[in-house]
Amino acid sequence: MKKIAGIVLLVLTFSATHAQDVSIIPQPTKLVTTKGSFNITSKTQIVLAGSSGLEKSANFLNDFLQKFYGLKLNIVSKGDFKNNIVLNYYKMEYPIEGAYNMHVNKAGIVIEGDNAAGTFYGIQSLIQLLPTEKAISLAVPFVEIEDKPRFAYRGMMLDVGRHFFPTSYIKKYIDFIAMHKLNTFQWHLTEDQGWRIEIKKYPKLTSMGSHRNGTIVGRFPGKSNDGLPEGGFYTQEEIKMLVKYASDRFVTIIPEIEMPGHASAAIAAYPQLSCFPDSSTKHPSKSPWYGTTQGKQVQQTWGVFEDVFAPTEYTFNFIQDVLDEVLQLFPSKFIHIGGDECPKTAWKKSAFCQQLIQDKNLKDEHGLQSYFIQRIEKYLNGKGRQIIGWDEILEGGLAPNAAVMSWRGEKGGIEAAKQKHKVIMTPTTYVYFDYSQTKHEDSVTIGGYLTLKMVYDYEPIPSQLSKEDEKYVIGAQANLWTEYISNTSKLEYMLFPRLTALSEVLWSSKENKNWNDFQKKLIPQLKRYDFWNWNYSKAFQDPSSKIKETQYDLSFVIK
Ligand code: ACM
Repeated sequence: MKKIAGIVLLVLTFSATHAQDVSIIPQPTKLVTTKGSFNITSKTQIVLAGSSGLEKSANFLNDFLQKFYGLKLNIVSKGDFKNNIVLNYYKMEYPIEGAYNMHVNKAGIVIEGDNAAGTFYGIQSLIQLLPTEKAISLAVPFVEIEDKPRFAYRGMMLDVGRHFFPTSYIKKYIDFIAMHKLNTFQWHLTEDQGWRIEIKKYPKLTSMGSHRNGTIVGRFPGKSNDGLPEGGFYTQEEIKMLVKYASDRFVTIIPEIEMPGHASAAIAAYPQLSCFPDSSTKHPSKSPWYGTTQGKQVQQTWGVFEDVFAPTEYTFNFIQDVLDEVLQLFPSKFIHIGGDECPKTAWKKSAFCQQLIQDKNLKDEHGLQSYFIQRIEKYLNGKGRQIIGWDEILEGGLAPNAAVMSWRGEKGGIEAAKQKHKVIMTPTTYVYFDYSQTKHEDSVTIGGYLTLKMVYDYEPIPSQLSKEDEKYVIGAQANLWTEYISNTSKLEYMLFPRLTALSEVLWSSKENKNWNDFQKKLIPQLKRYDFWNWNYSKAFQDPSSKIKETQYDLSFVIK
């Protein structure tokens, strides 16, 4: 028995000390490899040569080494620069945070970040140089790397309203983001189907609004209803922990609190938020419902619903109170206030809204939406924050300091950039990761068709913008809406490897992107995913997967 264990150990050690092919995603600015490798063993130390901030990167690396290789290194602030992993700073005069240089040679490993974030990204590149199997000695191939990000805003969104994912999994999602050198997590926390953030002043938001009695089965409108309670929310303590967890990975969490639409769950908890508090919640008659339909209800089907926030003083006070608690939890400069898909039906019918339109001298209900958003913007600006909204916030006039997330194509983003507003590109056609990847999907998706190559080929700066205006496009983001994603295996299947392609869109220079090289790099990348136990789609390997026409089911979208 002892002998067998010895042989196994020998084989493991031997295979892992062979230098791997060097393959880093996103592609670094400059990468030179030479023959040879440096071995990380349990004797290797992580030496912090710079001042504060580096311990975050050191801890991340050490946790990673421990989890996947069973290696725990000593982290020291005074140590030998030779034969160790040295983390340091090196001023690079680069306007976007996160540049770094890395040297691996026989003297050891040195990672020098322009700032702490840069060192962290160097660690992510180092992780991609490690073997994809367990070993006691980790061969790191000799490399010289110079690297820097293309865009300042590199985002990934997750909708936890349609389906709730627990705190432990949000940590994993933040790791996905950080390990692809993205720096922003937009957390879509409120929806028609569930309110997910604890607000102490309004306890019913979570006691009532975070649960629904059932969910449609199959593609909208649904063939039946599962009749299963779905729910969950994040306590303020959990949120504080996650904000710190993200910050330790140089990820900013931008919370999204939806208004004035997508508000059914909040209205179910506090019906006074509706223009018609006494009317029962409506849902499409074709969508099967479970349980009572009396009174205000959290929605059980997908789509866009007419019962939206009434623009009353009660609602504005409510939203301001909610935001006061949100601001205590999230230090991000930006707060996302939604603004998308708000039908004007209720406002048209409401005598109060019609009077308000007259009193405020507004043109119509779009003017009223603009008034709504501008009031909230003013409130948040007064607290030192800025708003982001989906591109509908352009309709009826953009709030003065608002940033725009362009999702219905690039038109909204182009318009906003021309108006000198910051823009984040998230067009459905290129970065909606809820779209199908193949016509052979074995579980239901929202439809659409978005391949790995389409993501890879995305260029966030529209050619229509002048040199002057293109600087307003601060980056891009992929969105993961979860109507048809109810478990983590499916979530990862939709995310990977498309997130890999996105990381190169957001980080690497245009000159450094190359689809053929990327495809070659995918092979080791997928090995890493296997080693890290992340699920992914293999649709990109299937030449018969092509969908000719878009199959995105827009029947529930109100124009
Ligand atoms: C969105 O997809 N409704 C922003």
